[in-house]
Amino acid sequence: MPPHTDFAVKDPYTYLHGLGNYHSSEALPGAVPLVNNSPQIPPLNLRTERISGTAFTADRDKNKQTFLYRANPSLEHSEFVPLDVSSGYGPDSANVPRHLNPNSVMWGDVPVPGAGATHWINGQQLVGANGEPQRKEGIAVWLFSVTESMPPRHAFASLDGELLVVPQSGSLDITTELGRLVVRQNEIAVIPRGVRHRVALVGEQRPCRGYICELFQGHFQLPALGVLGSTGLANARDFEIPTAYFDGELVEGRAVPHHHHHHDHNHHIGNTAEEDDKDDGRWTIIVRLATRRWHCTQPHTPFDVAGWHGTCYPYKYDLAKFCVMGNLLFDEHDPSLFTVLSAPNHAAGPGTAVADFAVIPPRYMVAEQTLWLPYFHRNTMQEFFAPIVSAQDPRHPFNQNAGGGGGGGGGNNNKSSNSNRFLPFTAGLHGAMSTHGPAQQELRAMRALDTTIPRKVGDELGGVTVFLFETERPLVLTDWAYEHAVKNPQATAKARAAKM
Ligand SMILES: [Fe+2]
Repeated sequence: MPPHTDFAVKDPYTYLHGLGNYHSSEALPGAVPLVNNSPQIPPLNLRTERISGTAFTADRDKNKQTFLYRANPSLEHSEFVPLDVSSGYGPDSANVPRHLNPNSVMWGDVPVPGAGATHWINGQQLVGANGEPQRKEGIAVWLFSVTESMPPRHAFASLDGELLVVPQSGSLDITTELGRLVVRQNEIAVIPRGVRHRVALVGEQRPCRGYICELFQGHFQLPALGVLGSTGLANARDFEIPTAYFDGELVEGRAVPHHHHHHDHNHHIGNTAEEDDKDDGRWTIIVRLATRRWHCTQPHTPFDVAGWHGTCYPYKYDLAKFCVMGNLLFDEHDPSLFTVLSAPNHAAGPGTAVADFAVIPPRYMVAEQTLWLPYFHRNTMQEFFAPIVSAQDPRHPFNQNAGGGGGGGGGNNNKSSNSNRFLPFTAGLHGAMSTHGPAQQELRAMRALDTTIPRKVGDELGGVTVFLFETERPLVLTDWAYEHAVKNPQATAKARAAKM
């Protein structure tokens, strides 16, 4: 397998490369002013708006600020009011974390709440959280099941934290204020806190399911490499940053956004022509604050940024590009070797993390006279884990179970009765100090293995990568997650088989 994913869904967009770099992008030539960040009159009659992701005085290598040059300032909107149940987006009360369990837990075949079709806003279910967004501490873990694009002229932003999006099956087309990106199974995307985005389906409208790690505190960054040197694990150059996207055009030297009025039959941001037809031109902005959703409307598109420059931006990464480092002679080394991104907890000292995102991809094992499995262990971190389907073949069993029957409906959303089910959901959680390790059957097989012969492991199922959200603080589960969880799953062979 070449060190990148052979994606079934092609990506039409262009990207900048290099995580952590200062980037600049123009959708309309000349949109980014020369030298002066805030000109008296910006180019193309644009307005200057800034997103600060860190304190102004944060160290240079951690400073995240971006200047946007847009047609209309985001200021122009109606009052934010809570989204209530009658709005059809489902109750926020399902998203209250309150269960801690000393058992390891696992989730198998679990339906996602919400009947029928789901999109990015009503298709997210909180699994658990730790810390609190209002204190800017900890994380939340959401699962999402998306069977249709977001309604026309709707955009979403989390005011609570940065969103690390991990599609397990299917693909998403995400339009953000800073540009557009396609995120497919075996890729991840990160959307900074507060950045508005609209999520549509791509790939013959096959449903997309997956997980989100919402980081209330700090930012994801590449881990320090220490004695590994300057390359390896996730390489900075393999991260892709969207280029500016302006939903409009240049008219007589001015950047003019489209209004999506009923004579406009252009295809915009995932809308069908019919969607563009029913039209008062207003956009709905939905935000999440302390896991509660609010909405407002505005008379203009949020995707009117003609240029931007800075260090606070969305990005994506193909997990097949992860450069696995490992044991070349003997012993089982620490799984920190599998860290893709880390959100350090600077206050708690070196090496500690609010959350680590790690992947265990297919790889060669060569360690002699070594158990090719994790030993039994109890860790200080909590481990939330789940499989990612790297196999792109729609006939792969996991893809079959994604609800769309592996492909399609000819551009129509598949609204079959189980189209929003995670089959198999198969996520699990090992809390801090809860013992886990190999099952007896695996252990027996690996104890009998001839370890003088290198072997590729982990691709027996045609390409499945296990990912982990490792968190410092205990993950407190919602009612929904607690009720559907199998407790102490390693005690039963059946649950063990479901884990692969
Ligand atoms: Fe573990």
